[in-house]
Amino acid sequence: MADFEMKNITKSFPGVKALDNAHFTADKGEIVALLGENGAGKSTLIKVLCGEHKADSGEIYFEGRPLKIHGTKSAIKQGICAVYQELSLIPDLTVAENLFLGVYDTAISGRVSYQELEKKTLELFHKYGVDVIDPWTKVSALPLPKRQMLEILKALSKDGEIIIFDEATSALSDRQASWLMDIIRNLADEGKIIIFISHRLDEIKALCTKVIVYRSGTDVADLPMEEADADQLVTLMLGREIGGYYPQKECFTKEEVLVSMKNVSSGHKLKDINLDLKAGEILGVGGLAGQGQAELFMALFGLVRTTGHIRIKGKDVRLKNPRTCIREGIALIPEDRGLQGLVLAQSIRENIVMAALDRIMKGIFISEQKEKEIVDEMIKTFSIKAESPETIAGTLSGGNQQKVVLGKQLATKPDILLMFDITRGVDVGTKKEMFNVIKQYAEEGKGILFYSTDMEELVNVCNSIVVMNQGKIAGRVDRELISRENILRVSVGEKAV
Ligand SMILES: Nc1ncnc2c1ncn2[C@@H]1O[C@H](COP(=O)(O)OP(=O)(O)OP(=O)(O)O)[C@@H](O)[C@H]1O
Ligand SMILES: [Mg+2]
Repeated sequence: MADFEMKNITKSFPGVKALDNAHFTADKGEIVALLGENGAGKSTLIKVLCGEHKADSGEIYFEGRPLKIHGTKSAIKQGICAVYQELSLIPDLTVAENLFLGVYDTAISGRVSYQELEKKTLELFHKYGVDVIDPWTKVSALPLPKRQMLEILKALSKDGEIIIFDEATSALSDRQASWLMDIIRNLADEGKIIIFISHRLDEIKALCTKVIVYRSGTDVADLPMEEADADQLVTLMLGREIGGYYPQKECFTKEEVLVSMKNVSSGHKLKDINLDLKAGEILGVGGLAGQGQAELFMALFGLVRTTGHIRIKGKDVRLKNPRTCIREGIALIPEDRGLQGLVLAQSIRENIVMAALDRIMKGIFISEQKEKEIVDEMIKTFSIKAESPETIAGTLSGGNQQKVVLGKQLATKPDILLMFDITRGVDVGTKKEMFNVIKQYAEEGKGILFYSTDMEELVNVCNSIVVMNQGKIAGRVDRELISRENILRVSVGEKAV
């Protein structure tokens, strides 16, 4: 018997069997990859283990004894802790309050001691070698990668025996991800059990000791990592082969300039940006994380104030707010679906048509026919896995939520697509479909600005890449010269070779 076993776990939601007689086993010291396409049941399994969901049936054993989990507190008490895919931090609370939510406010006779909280927070940063963030900053003021780091620290602070990372690296930069991998390896060396969920196969290969593959709510394989090659894993996940991963690169760049930025600055985050995006071009934005890439995208979607000049399709414009931008034919597909992209309580249909209202209004009436066409087209294009268009967005799996965000933005039929880390949390099969869609948009003459935390994607998808450093454009890497090494070279001020 393995040290840890989940047996015959079944869990249904209205209309969906998320887990169907599923198994999961691990030994102490193992780092187990839990792999599966969007909606396969991975997060549901984790939520059963962490007491968020009650399974309809099944048993859990740890060191030969049955584990009875009666809720989230009970799970933590029994040594199970998780970094959740959908961040659980409370935006209005500070860093320190979030990290120790529910731990110190009760421990200190019902009152929070701020000195104690501050000390614990700094200790935690120190212990795991993380750059210190002011404990009293509100979480809402932090960029997504920092929030994800906090989420990780919050889980680590609980000293669990079984530690779960549900797409904990999806928003992290290469450097932050390798920090986390070192920590995970240390934890495994101490004999902890690690469950690691990710859609980045290279990361899984490098880190995990075994892999369990889920498909449609049940386990279809359990193999030592060295016996599993990437193609085979993808085939197991999807139940079919997908062939080459990235589409053949082609260049559709035309002369027409869609976006022209001249000396654009924004506070100290964006300095003197000069950049052209042409029709048919897929222009990547590279550089180390947090060098102004997010601000560049925000500037083009009216989300930050800028100085300098922006021309859209040859016309001087002031991008005051997202509404003006949408009217100019610009769409932003954001990184953080929870906060910016999606209304969780509304249906897939409502989310998709929200931004596209102009296109489907007939006078003051909404054309239902048109609405249905658009929604069906988007569900099909991105193979959104759901019972029906009326399914509530909040009940979709993480990757499927991301696809709704894409559908929502693309339903406005934009000419200029700002794609900011759009494949975050999306499975390999769907990523491949997304890359094809991007290529098709380029062929139709749309301009695409593309950012990804996954450098392989930048290299394989873009025609040209501008590299940012400290809010400036440090240089540009074109066509044949595009490579990981050259992006890094340019970001430290050298020339691409
Ligand atoms: N609270 C819920 N209510 C209704 N259905 C749900 C709920 N949570 C999950 N589901 C459904 O259960 C299925 C499995 O979802 P789950 O979140 O476990 O997938 P996943 O493997 O984690 O996918 P991803 O890679 O996209 O995160 C999906 O069909 C999803 O829509
Ligand atoms: Mg999930």
